[in-house]
Amino acid sequence: MAEAGPRAFVCGHPVGHSRSPLIHGYWLRELQIGGSYEAIDVAPAKFAAFLTNLGSSGFSGGNITLPFKEAACELIEHPDEAARAIGAVNTVWIEKTGLHGTNTDWQGFAASMDEMAPGWDNATSAVILGAGGAARGIVYALIRRGLTKIHIINRTISRAAELAAAFPGTKADGWSGLSEKLPHAELLINTTSLGMKGNQQSTLDLAPLPPSAIVADIVYVPLETPLLSAARERGLKTVDGLGMLLHQAVPGFEKWFGVRPRVTEKLRNIIVSDLERTG
Ligand code: ATR
Repeated sequence: MAEAGPRAFVCGHPVGHSRSPLIHGYWLRELQIGGSYEAIDVAPAKFAAFLTNLGSSGFSGGNITLPFKEAACELIEHPDEAARAIGAVNTVWIEKTGLHGTNTDWQGFAASMDEMAPGWDNATSAVILGAGGAARGIVYALIRRGLTKIHIINRTISRAAELAAAFPGTKADGWSGLSEKLPHAELLINTTSLGMKGNQQSTLDLAPLPPSAIVADIVYVPLETPLLSAARERGLKTVDGLGMLLHQAVPGFEKWFGVRPRVTEKLRNIIVSDLERTG
């Protein structure tokens, strides 16, 4: 049954770490949809050809992961507004007009915040740690949801400045500027790899944050990063990175298989078990 129907994929290099097959495979079974979702490791030299030939490959579309998200944005014929603003594509689908693409990371972040911290977007000010590819999606999400005071803090200040220049109205600073921003931050979001398993996190002093601040991390291994643990100990509301991973998968599944899937506790537990097993 699983073989008939639409076929989708995730491609990356390497791709073995991707949890997307587990997420989409779960939804295909739960929703009893005949279709498939497979992981494809594509050598960097072959990525352009892979994408260009997608129309004749029998796939309805798929996910693009590292290191191809930026290249995909350049290569596809119809990147949407979010993809162009973020400069990266993680979801593609085929239409009569050609290959279309978007970036669902921002929707994943917003939906995860909606679920775990409803009303979060009543805030006006946010501090973002990091200025890499992930930070671009978060800045875009914050702007889309109406936040107006966005500070990007990064170790390499030139990267923060570059990101701020791409999103007028946002401001850039180095780590030394963080302590003066915290007392006014309604949201603090970590987009750096600091806190990831095996990557030590320098302890941030969260004392200056207002008591109503929400602290989010996009890292999900471990689920509770040192930043989130410090925030919890201070009594602040926290949002872990797993919700973003799960919710970013929703729009793609709907495009390829025609049904909008739900992020449930059961799905979350399956991924948590897998993370605990494989790390
Ligand atoms: P991604 O696409 O996942 O965002 P990236 O583009 O490599 O990955 O960005 C990683 C982010 O983590 C950057 O903001 C990086 O800071 P620099 O721009 O200064 O490199 C940040 N980062 C990684 N390791 C860090 C560390 N040890 N201390 C501070 N920031 C770090």
